Amino acid sequence: MDLKSLVRDIPDFPKPGILFRDITTLLRDPEGLRYTIDFLTQKCNEAEIRADYVIGMESRGFIFGSPLAYQLGAGFIPVRKKGKLPAAVHSIEYELEYGTDCLEVHQDALHQGSRVLIVDDLIATGGTASATAKLVQKIGCELVGFGFIIELRDLQGRTYLPDVPIISLIEY
Ligand code: PRP
Ligand code: HPA
Repeated sequence: MDLKSLVRDIPDFPKPGILFRDITTLLRDPEGLRYTIDFLTQKCNEAEIRADYVIGMESRGFIFGSPLAYQLGAGFIPVRKKGKLPAAVHSIEYELEYGTDCLEVHQDALHQGSRVLIVDDLIATGGTASATAKLVQKIGCELVGFGFIIELRDLQGRTYLPDVPIISLIEY
C-alpha cells in the first residue's frame, strides 16, 4: 500500500517555510490505519524487538503506540509534557529551537531492566525521541528500539539516537 499518498502536505504550518506532514488523513482511512499498524508490527517482529512496554510521546505517539503495544503483547506507557501526569514523575528537560521543554513519565511505570520500545508518529530533529531515550535509560531500562511512522531524513534525527534498531515506515 502507498502509505505516503495518505499523508497530507500542508505548506507553511505551523510557521512560514515549514511543510507539515499531516497524518490525520492516514488515520481516517480504515485500510491505511490497519496497514500502518500491521506494517509497524511486522517490522518490529522482523527486527526481533521484544518489548515489555511501548512508550508513546504526547500526543501523536499515543495514537500509534497503543495499538502497537496491543499487537506486540506489551503494555503501553505515556510520556507526557510537563504537569499532565497525576502521580510522582521522572522528568527530563530538552532543548527546542527556542528555549527548553520537559517530558515526564510516572515513576512507578518503569523499572530497572524493563525492555522499552519508543514510538512516535514522526522523527524530525530527533530532540523528542532522544530526550525520551535519556529518560528511560536514566531509570535503568533496556531500550530495545524506536518506531516511527514518518522520518524526515534531511534533519538526520536518527544520528542523535542510541545504537538500537530504528524503524520508520515513510521517509521524506
Ligand atoms: C511532534 C511529533 C514528534 C516531534 C518530532 O510533536 O509528533 O513528537 O514533534 O520532532 P523532533 O524530532 O524535532 O523532536 P509535537 O511536539 O508537535 O507535539 P504533538 O504530537 O502534541 O503535536
Ligand atoms: N509534520 C508533523 N509533525 C512535525 C513535523 C512535520 O512536518 N515536523 C515536526 N513535527
